[in-house]
Formats: sequence, structure tokens, C-alpha cells
Amino acid sequence: MSELVPAVRVRGVTKTFSTGGISTVALAGVDLDVAAGELLMLVGPSGCGKTTLISIIAGILDQNAGSVTVFGHDLKTLSAGQRTAFRCRHIGFVFQAYNLLPSLTAAENVSIPAILNGMTHRQALIKAGELLDRVGLGDRRQSRPTQLSGGQQQRVAIARALIHDPPLIVCDEPTSALDHRSGEQVMDLLRTVAGGGGSSASGQDRALVVVTHDARIFSYADRIARMDDGRITALEQPPERSS
Ligand SMILES: Nc1ncnc2c1ncn2[C@@H]1O[C@H](COP(=O)(O)OP(=O)(O)OP(=O)(O)O)[C@@H](O)[C@H]1O
Ligand SMILES: [Mg+2]
Repeated sequence: MSELVPAVRVRGVTKTFSTGGISTVALAGVDLDVAAGELLMLVGPSGCGKTTLISIIAGILDQNAGSVTVFGHDLKTLSAGQRTAFRCRHIGFVFQAYNLLPSLTAAENVSIPAILNGMTHRQALIKAGELLDRVGLGDRRQSRPTQLSGGQQQRVAIARALIHDPPLIVCDEPTSALDHRSGEQVMDLLRTVAGGGGSSASGQDRALVVVTHDARIFSYADRIARMDDGRITALEQPPERSS
């Protein structure tokens, strides 16, 4: 029987930032697997390396040493153009700072990855509207980011990460600006997207990596990876979901 290749495989990854003669070790040797259909949460104190790790997984940053494969592809071996194309098709990323384009409406922001993947503007805007409905923003499609609260912008960013149906979704603190009810709505959506039953349009389960400090959402995880000082220190089962 052949070994099942995980959606994400991280081995011995290190990353040191050097700025102004000061070196900061952000990752000191990380090993991690994320399976298709799995929602893995990454938790740990501020500065422990969570954003750095998911940025490397998503091909936004390069590691110094070690390897990362996403669906069997080593992003470091791809040319810049190939890597951009791979990310565009396969990865949805929710940035800690949302990174919405200020001149576009909420629906236009959400539609961008779908258009980049070949959908017509019209179809993309329809799908964007449906996703905005699902994150509770159906009535804010025409609003621009400056007209939205932080929590509303965060939900637009989440809708944008899902619209092109990517098999890997990486979210940096997706509920940090949300109240309890909106946080649960977003996590219900992400949980559905992760599948565990072939719920994606492609019929395949997706892999999700969710960085969070929010203990209220831990129960949505399949596994929790604890980080400290640039290392994974524990892999745990989540607490039971109260119904
Ligand atoms: N571009 C950069 N240049 C220099 N140092 C950086 C850079 N990005 C991150 N670091 C440092 O690397 C370490 C890990 O940062 P990272 O952003 O990954 O932490 P984090 O776990 O996401 O923290 P938080 O919970 O506050 O978002 C920190 O010490 C940070 O100061
Ligand atoms: Mg961070």
C-alpha cells in the first residue's frame, strides 16, 4: 500500500530574519503534517512564529532550511511565475491584517481570486454575493473597506479566501475581530469547507490551517498544534464541542 501524501508536509523548517544587524530566529526547526479534510489550529504566544510558518506553507515567504510540500509540490523548486500560479489555484490565504483593496467594493474584493482563475466577472460577483451572505454580509456587497468595521472586513477577507474553492486554506487569526456569534458563523463555514465528507466542488476534502488565540473556537479543530519559540511543542486533541 502506498503511503498517503499529506496535503501539507513541513520538515525541519527554519527561518531567521535579519534586519539592521539584528537576527531573530522565527522558526527553529518545524515538522508538521496536515491531512486533506483536516482543520488544524496553530496556537501559541505572540511572536512564537505562527504567521511566519503559515506564510512559508503558503509560499509567501521562503524558509532558510528544511522542506515544505503542498500536495506533493515543493514550492521552492518552482519558478516565481509557477509559484504564483500554484498559489492562485490551490491556496486561499486570510491575512492577519485582511489586506483588502480599498478602491474595490466588498463583492469585488471577494471576486478577485475567482476572476484570476478564469471565472467571468459576472459569475464571480454572483458567487462573491453568495459567500458574503454566508458570512452575514449579504447587505454590504457594495460597501468599500473603509465603510466596514474591522470584523466586517475580516469576514470579507475570509469570503475572498474561499471563492476559488482552493484545496488548502490558511487563515491568520480569522476570528480576532469577531463577536461570538459571527465567530461561530465563520467557523461553521470553515468547518463545512474542510469537509471530511467530500464537500468541496471538486469532491475532495480541503486542508485548513487556522492560526488563533481564540479559545472559544478550539473545539472546531481536528487537532491543535501548540507553538512556542519557533517550535511545535505539542499536538493535542481539541476540547469536546458543546451543542
Ligand atoms: N519581516 C520581519 N522582519 C524581522 N523580524 C520578523 C519579521 N517577521 C516576523 N519577525 C519576527 O519573527 C518572530 C515571529 O513572528 P511571527 O509574526 O511569525 O509571530 P506570530 O506568532 O505570528 O505572532 P502574533 O501572534 O503576534 O501574530 C517575531 O519575533 C517577529 O518579531
Ligand atoms: Mg501573527
